[in-house]
Amino acid sequence: MTVLVTGGAGFIGSNFIFYMLKNHREDRVICLDRLTYAGNLHTLEPVMEDPNFRFIKGDICDRDTIYDLFHEEQPDIVVNFAAESHVDRSIDNPGIFLETNIIGTSILMDACRRYGIRRFHQISTDEVYGDLPLDRPDLFFTEESPLRPSSPYSSSKASADLLVLAYHKTYGLPATISRCSNNYGPYQFPEKLIPRMIINALSDRSLPVYGNGQNVRDWLYVEDHCRAIDLIIRKGSAGEIYNIGGRNEMKNIDVVKLICKELGKPEKLISYTKDRKGHDRRYAVNPAKIRRELDWLPETRFSDGIRDTIRWYCDHRTWWEMTVSGE
Ligand SMILES: NC(=O)c1ccc[n+]([C@@H]2O[C@H](COP(=O)([O-])OP(=O)(O)OC[C@H]3O[C@@H](n4cnc5c(N)ncnc54)[C@H](O)[C@@H]3O)[C@@H](O)[C@H]2O)c1
Repeated sequence: MTVLVTGGAGFIGSNFIFYMLKNHREDRVICLDRLTYAGNLHTLEPVMEDPNFRFIKGDICDRDTIYDLFHEEQPDIVVNFAAESHVDRSIDNPGIFLETNIIGTSILMDACRRYGIRRFHQISTDEVYGDLPLDRPDLFFTEESPLRPSSPYSSSKASADLLVLAYHKTYGLPATISRCSNNYGPYQFPEKLIPRMIINALSDRSLPVYGNGQNVRDWLYVEDHCRAIDLIIRKGSAGEIYNIGGRNEMKNIDVVKLICKELGKPEKLISYTKDRKGHDRRYAVNPAKIRRELDWLPETRFSDGIRDTIRWYCDHRTWWEMTVSGE
């Protein structure tokens, strides 16, 4: 089988490529990535020489490039990770989010229709559901919850989800969608909470936390997410949406304090900054469907995953120094 992974030079996409090349030696994996500020070719170095792997620099919004690629490679499965993914950047500049996350997704699906495909899988996010109140820990989003995105980023992801469902219904495109909670692990770009705090703490710099730090996120180790995607593309039913969550909710401030503790750094490094506009209070999905239908459960305990992640950033200083400097 040939699997096309778009956005595979980013955080989750690269981890997914490593997962696939390790666990499915019978498959070929092709990565298409535009290499925006968030994509890092250095990340893919360990697999560049693998005969089952090919990297192509390209933009999912470039129809000619995408059609040429499909014509040449005839992928069986497409997993679309390619996206602008940072909420703060979407607040500053929504346009590129609409281009890549919506138009890019539609161009990929047009190619799937034109050249034929066994499965198109859209990587979405739990942020499409909006947020939940902090004082109702009993509430969780299911796949049937209404879409109420808060930011330009999550709105663009919700729009793409609607397009995927429409392509399934109108054209019979064999498509699936997964909506995952916050991921953490190796190779995450240092603008996101966990790597940013680890790197700042390692450098004894201030640890800026939005608002009062009480916002709650559900954290999932990236490898558990990759295993869930692998199950969905092989065993999930076309037209279905799957929520993926770690059932591991934590306040942002507690995550930052834990990082300080693990690194032996004082909590006085923590500073509180003006809250993000439209900051979502709590995200929490109910992953019962993927558990019931595909027998998926997260396997990595947060205490283990965060320790491994911190160790990874300590051991890969060159990777993040290059990334931070823009090299
Ligand atoms: N990180 C999370 O916690 C999280 C949680 C749920 C869902 N998601 C979703 O997972 C996907 C991957 O997220 P991530 O954190 O790995 O993002 P990331 O920003 O680390 O990586 C995105 C990748 O897409 C590439 N890209 C951007 N625009 C492109 C374009 N036009 N054409 C081709 N490639 C392009 C970038 O170069 C980069 O390599 C996104 O769709 C995101 O919405 C992320």
